[in-house]
Amino acid sequence: MRNPARVSAHLDTFSDADVAAVYDVENPWDRIGFPQDRFFSDTVAAADSVLDVGCGTGSMLHVAREEGHTGRLVGLDPDPAMLARARRRTDVEWVAGTAADVAHDAEFALVTMASNAFQHLVSDDELRSSLAAIRRALRPGGAFVFGTRHLQARAWEAWNPANAGNLVLPDGREIRGWHEVEKVDGPLVTFTETVARPDGTPLRVDRTTLRFHTPETLNPFLLAAGFAVEHQFGDWDRGRLSARSREIATIARAG
Ligand SMILES: C[S@@+](CC[C@H](N)C(=O)[O-])C[C@H]1O[C@@H](n2cnc3c(N)ncnc32)[C@H](O)[C@@H]1O
Repeated sequence: MRNPARVSAHLDTFSDADVAAVYDVENPWDRIGFPQDRFFSDTVAAADSVLDVGCGTGSMLHVAREEGHTGRLVGLDPDPAMLARARRRTDVEWVAGTAADVAHDAEFALVTMASNAFQHLVSDDELRSSLAAIRRALRPGGAFVFGTRHLQARAWEAWNPANAGNLVLPDGREIRGWHEVEKVDGPLVTFTETVARPDGTPLRVDRTTLRFHTPETLNPFLLAAGFAVEHQFGDWDRGRLSARSREIATIARAG
């Protein structure tokens, strides 16, 4: 959490809609400030039809329309509260579902999974079924562009209560939030995210498991689903992928 505390307010509950609002405060889509956002926005702008899987609050596609994209834009996400924020823009199609639920057939030039949504695909079966559905949604020669944190960088080591921070919601409420890792099981990291009053009294705790990858664990899944790995970068400025990279930024091509 990046924003400093400014306002204190009474908090009785913290709803799913509030969590989605926090997401947008913490993660504004910003192609100037964030190389990842620039990479995806440029890629989306160059494609005539885009399916964004794990679209969250839809900010990437919102910005694409604002910037003048005239093609078909579809966002899909399983979280109703995130999708409710996405739906505030009605000139994009919004679909409720997981990656494995994607039911489109050869309709898109580009499928994206931004901001590490791909790491929510945890089991081998979920990875296989999700990649098969994404592959089916692409036209021949279409691209699947996504990122995942590189396992070796152990990003979860920074997810601890010592890094707690405060932020202020658009309605003026102030919260304190932190992450805490519960379990690291090979590439699977289970952690909680706590939202609390400014004095640290917890209001809600959400638990998530994410899967981390190396190119060696990731690429066989892509190849088995009928993708060719066209480019893999170690960061969103197209830096070389190495054993020290923090990211694996992938452009995979549907064969
Ligand atoms: C970190 S957010 C990224 C949101 C958005 N892509 C962005 O760039 O801001 C991850 C999203 O993945 C979604 N998600 C979780 N499991 C998923 C699955 N199996 N298939 C597709 N999306 C999933 C979550 O609901 C969440 O909205």
